[in-house]
Formats: sequence, structure tokens, C-alpha cells
Amino acid sequence: MKDIKHVAFIMDGNGRWANERNLPRHLGHKEGVENVYRIIDECYDLSIFTVSFYCFSTENWNRPKREINHLFSYLNEFFKKNVKKMIKKSIKIHVSGDISKLPAKTQNVINESIELTKNCNKMSVNFCLNYGGRDEIIRAIKRIDKQPPQ
Ligand code: IPE
Ligand code: MG
Repeated sequence: MKDIKHVAFIMDGNGRWANERNLPRHLGHKEGVENVYRIIDECYDLSIFTVSFYCFSTENWNRPKREINHLFSYLNEFFKKNVKKMIKKSIKIHVSGDISKLPAKTQNVINESIELTKNCNKMSVNFCLNYGGRDEIIRAIKRIDKQPPQ
């Protein structure tokens, strides 16, 4: 187990989890987000250096607005609740994706968490938010376009 460097999780099945229990869909998202910290803890104990969570893709914007709001409010709670524990364990928070389109509250709490954990070095947790293949290609081309000609 010692030499596993990076494990990635694609978050899925929250809705089905709630359906099977006759619960509203958003409670599936709540449970899904709560599982994130449980997974971080397990991976930390297994000395896995990087863990990535594919949380919210560019395609997820097609979901109902109410559902999107629930998702981001659970995510906000996650950072508020867990960042102190992560600092104690020296876990660095990283984000992949274009967070500038996320609700302002979520952007703030994420930027704050990144800043607070910037010197942590025992483990790195990467949250993929507003990520997508097309978006990555577009952003890469824009970056290349900005470079001066060689
Ligand atoms: C994952 O669960 C949450 C996100 C990707 C945002 P789903 O919402 O996709 O749950 P199912 O697939 O409907 O069960
Ligand atoms: Mg799904």
C-alpha cells in the first residue's frame, strides 16, 4: 500500500443512494460530501500522498438550479467543518477547474482554505470543480495564445 501515490474518486450515485432510502435527492449529496472526509482520513492513514475528488463537472450545470444550490451549500459546509482538522494533519487543499463560475460564497471559502493550507505538506487533496475535457482544451489553447512567439 505504501507506494500508492495518487487515488482519484469520481463522485457518483448520490441520487441512487437517497432513492433507495426514500430520501430526498439532496440528502444523498449531503451523505456524499460527508464521505469525502471519511475517505481523506482513510487515505491519510494509508499514506497516500494525493487524493483527487471529481466533484462537479461542466456538464453538471445542466442539473436543476435547486440541486446545484444544495450541492454547493454542502460543499461550503465541508470546508467550514473540516479545514481546521486538515491544517492539524498538514493536508494541503488544491482545486482543479475553473472556480470563477462557482457561487461567490463557495469561491471565498475555497480560496480561504487554499490559503490556510498552503504550507501543509503531508498530503494533498485535490477538488475537481467545474472541470471538463472541453474546458481544459479551451483554457490550454488560450494560455498558449497568450505566450509570446518563440
Ligand atoms: C454524484 O451523484 C453527484 C455529482 C456528480 C454532482 P449523482 O447526483 O450523479 O447521483 P446519481 O448518479 O443520480 O445516483
Ligand atoms: Mg450520476
